[in-house]
Amino acid sequence: MRTIKIFDTTLRDGEQSPGASMNVGEKLQLAKQLARLGVDIIEAGFAIASPGDFEAIRTIGGEVEGPVICSLARAKEEDIKRAWEAVKDSPKRRIHTFHSTSDIHLKYQFRVSREEALKRSVQMVQLAKGFLDDVEFSPMDATRTEINYLCEVVEAVIEAGALTVNIPDTVGYSIPSEFGAMIKALFDKVKNIDKAVIAVHCHNDLGLATSNSLAAVLNGAGQIECTINGIGERAGNCSLEEVVMAMRTRRDIFNADTNIKTEEITRSSRLVSKITGMSVQPNKAIVGANAFAHESGIHQDGLLKEKSTYEIIRPETIGLHKTKFVLGKHSGRHAFRTRLNELGLSLGDDEVNSAFERFKKLADQKKEIYDEDLETLVSEEFTMVPETYSLVEMSISSGTNQRPTAVLKMKVNAQIVEKEEHGDGPVDAVFKAITSITGTKSRLLKYEVKAITGGTDALGEVVCALEEDGKSVSGHGADTDIITASAKAYINGLNKLAASRK
Ligand code: KIV
Ligand code: ZN
Repeated sequence: MRTIKIFDTTLRDGEQSPGASMNVGEKLQLAKQLARLGVDIIEAGFAIASPGDFEAIRTIGGEVEGPVICSLARAKEEDIKRAWEAVKDSPKRRIHTFHSTSDIHLKYQFRVSREEALKRSVQMVQLAKGFLDDVEFSPMDATRTEINYLCEVVEAVIEAGALTVNIPDTVGYSIPSEFGAMIKALFDKVKNIDKAVIAVHCHNDLGLATSNSLAAVLNGAGQIECTINGIGERAGNCSLEEVVMAMRTRRDIFNADTNIKTEEITRSSRLVSKITGMSVQPNKAIVGANAFAHESGIHQDGLLKEKSTYEIIRPETIGLHKTKFVLGKHSGRHAFRTRLNELGLSLGDDEVNSAFERFKKLADQKKEIYDEDLETLVSEEFTMVPETYSLVEMSISSGTNQRPTAVLKMKVNAQIVEKEEHGDGPVDAVFKAITSITGTKSRLLKYEVKAITGGTDALGEVVCALEEDGKSVSGHGADTDIITASAKAYINGLNKLAASRK
């Protein structure tokens, strides 16, 4: 049985999804969860892309134990040096460098010859090797690269010291039989292929990223690059949970497995949705809300008699349990902290105290507190940013024959400002009041409300995607009152934009 390495790029390629940008605190929480999930490598960012990416890679490298921490770098000297600076203090570190190899990219985008691309790739692998041993190289747009040239590049970068060579289907163009054959051709033609791990990195433009990755495993690939919930550039990347569960469920076919602790899949998926504000479609394989919901009478009948009639994966295998009431208003700080630890939510003392205060307030409004409520409360701790703006109080009036009106009092840079606004609904009135108090010019790209658990007293969670000068962020807010949750989410988004301007 082979062990296939899981290289998670949620924090790098996943973050390239429109609106999915994360701050350092959010990335750190997610990286800790990825370590609990058991991924082998975390691609924590693209060090040269921004100071925020650089900082996130360094912080994760210093605080997250277990996986190898990797930074992406173009095949350029300044990128490789910056990537090294970002990962150098991590106990386990990798530099992942890449250069396009397809004629389309070389001719129209980079305007260099095949020879020049090959030379730069080799030189940059050698440069990275001067800093550390664990170097990965990707020939970008490999699936549209002429196969003999691709073999030449792969052989040369292995010769230069690359320990992993990743074959990206950058534009999600390949189909499984073709991609499998390409991996096989590399194994047949590249003389030194046994000196490196062959990885694959598939995009989902034709909905084939998981199938292509699995076809590659059947043909010898030893590492899969993927993201939680399949988020990523355009239609996304290969979804971690799909590829891992396919191998786990069909070991008879793949004769391969991974180090993933599948019981952590549901929690990882929820955390990514919470942080990025990107909900999972209900019918998504493995982590969709309906993935284990059986509606048909014939199926329900079969399941009652014997689960395996219609269930190929037990929900517990991916950490999906029936929602249980866990804490209430009489629960103390100790029980609160114990439950957070059991959920794998690691917080410092100050953060626990602040989350506990909010838990007590929530327990006054809502009798029964579930794990999902706790996850939401805690996620508010790490989505927090310095508060340029904060809500002091608000009152709303609206009704069938009444013009919706919001009166808001806010603190703006320590000054209290009050405004009244009208809108075509209470949320519209609140957002107008916030915009007029803060004088901000961001555009609201998305507004989404979700009930965390069942019942009309459920905690409502709101996500607002905002955009300003090309920068997009997602603001989060949770409250039993969805208008208050909306105000909190909008203000959280404005604070994130303010922090990024600074
Ligand atoms: O899709 C791609 O080709 C990439 C590379 C940087 C590996 O993300
Ligand atoms: Zn990619």
